[in-house]
Amino acid sequence: MAKDKIQAVKGMNDILPEHNPMWDLFLNSVRKVARLYGYQQIRTPILEQTRLFKRGIGEVTDIVEKEMYSFVDTLNGEELTLRPENTASVVRATIEHNLIYDAPKRLWYFGPMFRHERPQRGRYRQFYQFGMEALGFKGPDADVEQLLLIHRLFKMLGIADAVHLELNCLGQLDERKVYREELIKYFEAHREILDEEAQRRLYSNPLRILDTKNPDMQDLVNNAPKLCEYLGEESKAFLARLEELLTANGISYTVNPRLVRGLDYYNLTVYEWVTDKLGAQATVCGGGRYDPLIEMLGGRAAPACGFAMGVERAIELMKECGVARSLKECTVYLCWQGADTYVPALRIAEELRSAGVEVIVHSGSAKFANQMKRADASGADYAVIVGEEEVASGLLTLKPLREGMTDYGTQLKKTTAEIVSYLQAPA
Ligand code: HAM
Repeated sequence: MAKDKIQAVKGMNDILPEHNPMWDLFLNSVRKVARLYGYQQIRTPILEQTRLFKRGIGEVTDIVEKEMYSFVDTLNGEELTLRPENTASVVRATIEHNLIYDAPKRLWYFGPMFRHERPQRGRYRQFYQFGMEALGFKGPDADVEQLLLIHRLFKMLGIADAVHLELNCLGQLDERKVYREELIKYFEAHREILDEEAQRRLYSNPLRILDTKNPDMQDLVNNAPKLCEYLGEESKAFLARLEELLTANGISYTVNPRLVRGLDYYNLTVYEWVTDKLGAQATVCGGGRYDPLIEMLGGRAAPACGFAMGVERAIELMKECGVARSLKECTVYLCWQGADTYVPALRIAEELRSAGVEVIVHSGSAKFANQMKRADASGADYAVIVGEEEVASGLLTLKPLREGMTDYGTQLKKTTAEIVSYLQAPA
């Protein structure tokens, strides 16, 4: 009887070996940029107490209302959630381990997040984020430093020209309170235009109505009162300084007064890097300042800012921009011919590996032509051929496989040691 095929959970992707060269390129660039700016890596658990996200992200947000993978641990009754984002977890860890007791900290992370959204291109239920949090920094210098870092990373990844920075200032809680009342009055006066979602958010989270994608509501939100008109002098000065520093560093941006972001912890700076190359899921990176969060989660009040980048979206954009990396399984593919050559071939492969050369030894007894086809398909730069003649003379055949390489089109005769020196010589 045929068995049911077991497939991956909807919206959760396998990242296959052929995808990895791009992921490696991304992660290597992240590590480099983190070192350049003095950020240290932190790894927090994928599971946290549900109340961390409820308190941190906010009860009346899409994430907490409908997107969290939450369950009760049947072993002890604890309410747990697969992390939908990592800022709350990093702040939890910072408080728990007293990380900023003597000095502020710059931290970065990379890993899977989980949100029960409707899957489509660029929107998944398990997706990866690379993110950074600067804890204990008042800004706006720290905010600008992160924006410069993101811009540098985009340049390293070859996507800087495909993204644009949108920025807004959310001010402080008391400023937003006054604005919120005005916004509610405005929307109440136009209730007939509000869609179901907006009706639902009218009193719980009216600022989020500004984010609507509903074409019938665009005029309404465009004409709504603007938060910037309700900001006090300090908030205005913060934004002005941020803009000044961005301009001085050649970063172009647009101030988007409708940008509010979907998480409740922000104040002052919020931003998104958007692209027009990825369809509906246009935001590659989002972040901002969250000065109230550390205290909200039980720590001693300290300012902070951060961002997270959607890794799948960044990689998709790299592909759209023509950045390509193909899979290279090894540097040397070792072909052997004749039953008596296998033992010497294995020894030679071990010697090459001891010298740091990445080697795949052909497995099985395929014909020589087929072995060479496999060598080509592996992406290896060289084939090393071990036949009876090579074993007898101690001189192996080295064949550069890729057009444009030095000695391409020839077969070189070399000892194992000579092959190592040849491969180590600068191109
Ligand atoms: P966020 O805007 O919710 O912010 O997510 C950041 C990025 O993660 C998005 O811009 C997007 O690229 C990616 N992303 C979000 N949801 C999905 C999904 N379902 N599928 C694929 N990619 C997705 C945060 O998570 C905040 N923690 C950012 C932050 C850090 N703010 C301060 N510090």
